[in-house]
Amino acid sequence: MADDNVLVLITGASGFVGSHLAIDLAAAGHRVAAIGGRSLPCRDVRQVVESVWQCDLADSTAAGRLLKEVKPDLVIHCAALARAAECEENPQNAHLANVVATRNLLLAADLPIVFISTDLVFDGSVAPQGGFREKDPVNPNSVYARTKADAEKFVLDTRSASAVARICLVFGDDLSGHGGFLGWLRGSLAKGDTVKLFTDEWRTPIYTKDVSRSIAAILNKPEISRKHRIVHLAGCERVSRFEFGSQVASRFGFDHSLLNPTSVTGFSSPAPRSSDVSLSNQVLIDEFGVEPMTIRSALADML
Ligand SMILES: NC(=O)c1ccc[n+]([C@@H]2O[C@H](COP(=O)([O-])OP(=O)(O)OC[C@H]3O[C@@H](n4cnc5c(N)ncnc54)[C@H](OP(=O)(O)O)[C@@H]3O)[C@@H](O)[C@H]2O)c1
Repeated sequence: MADDNVLVLITGASGFVGSHLAIDLAAAGHRVAAIGGRSLPCRDVRQVVESVWQCDLADSTAAGRLLKEVKPDLVIHCAALARAAECEENPQNAHLANVVATRNLLLAADLPIVFISTDLVFDGSVAPQGGFREKDPVNPNSVYARTKADAEKFVLDTRSASAVARICLVFGDDLSGHGGFLGWLRGSLAKGDTVKLFTDEWRTPIYTKDVSRSIAAILNKPEISRKHRIVHLAGCERVSRFEFGSQVASRFGFDHSLLNPTSVTGFSSPAPRSSDVSLSNQVLIDEFGVEPMTIRSALADML
């Protein structure tokens, strides 16, 4: 999909995953343009990329104008309304951010897109039935997941040179005030708050640097990307949120008694929860040659 001179536009670069991607791909020698939505990408991003932009991608005119000005060779589309509860409460916003914005990018220019999607496109209501592979049928059970599945389909149907990268629970340093699940966990534990962590909700967490290495492999191996248009970016360990929290507490020296093991059964949340959306990363390892770090070594690698 890429050679050394291509300009990569990263959307959602003011967010958690996009900011890491922008920094890591720029460090790996890619030319990067970074765009935020309501906010600009953070200073760490601004210092290393070729240009920064702001655009509401749900506005088709603005999206078209952006692509004309930036003139990227390909797009890594991270921008999304990624909070499931917020999507459930405002399905119209979720549709605009996740489906309409993706469609606007696809229709504005004939460019390859790597669409960042989610493990939650699988239902995963029955554990232990995770280990989902790329060819398994999706069965989204929330507004967030349905909008991501709709956008995936649109990407795959519209542009043959595009790919869908489904990622799991991502963890890494908090660069931009968006630290994901780990950011919330560390923030709470640092304040001495007790945290409820599910013992029966399983994920295959992936480190931000492994997400970036995987996306770089997708860009650098176009012949394999054409064969595998959907790729699962997942870590090698299937862990419960409680097990993950225990490793975090050990690594950062937090009091383990603050971790309150809880069952997801009977837990009331605005969006339906998925017990086991662990993903198989066999294609990532065998075809793209990316071997994700263990959770322990990734946590040790963090700042
Ligand atoms: N974090 C995870 O664990 C995880 C797991 C699975 C999948 N994903 C996927 O990974 C991607 C990134 O997630 P994240 O955790 O980094 O989310 P995030 O921190 O909430 O960032 C979302 C980004 O999307 C931008 N955005 C939202 N609506 C936009 C619009 N209408 N126009 C332009 N930009 C818009 C936001 O810009 P502003 O904030 O500037 O408005 C922000 O930069 C998403 O596609 C998500 O579905 C994430």
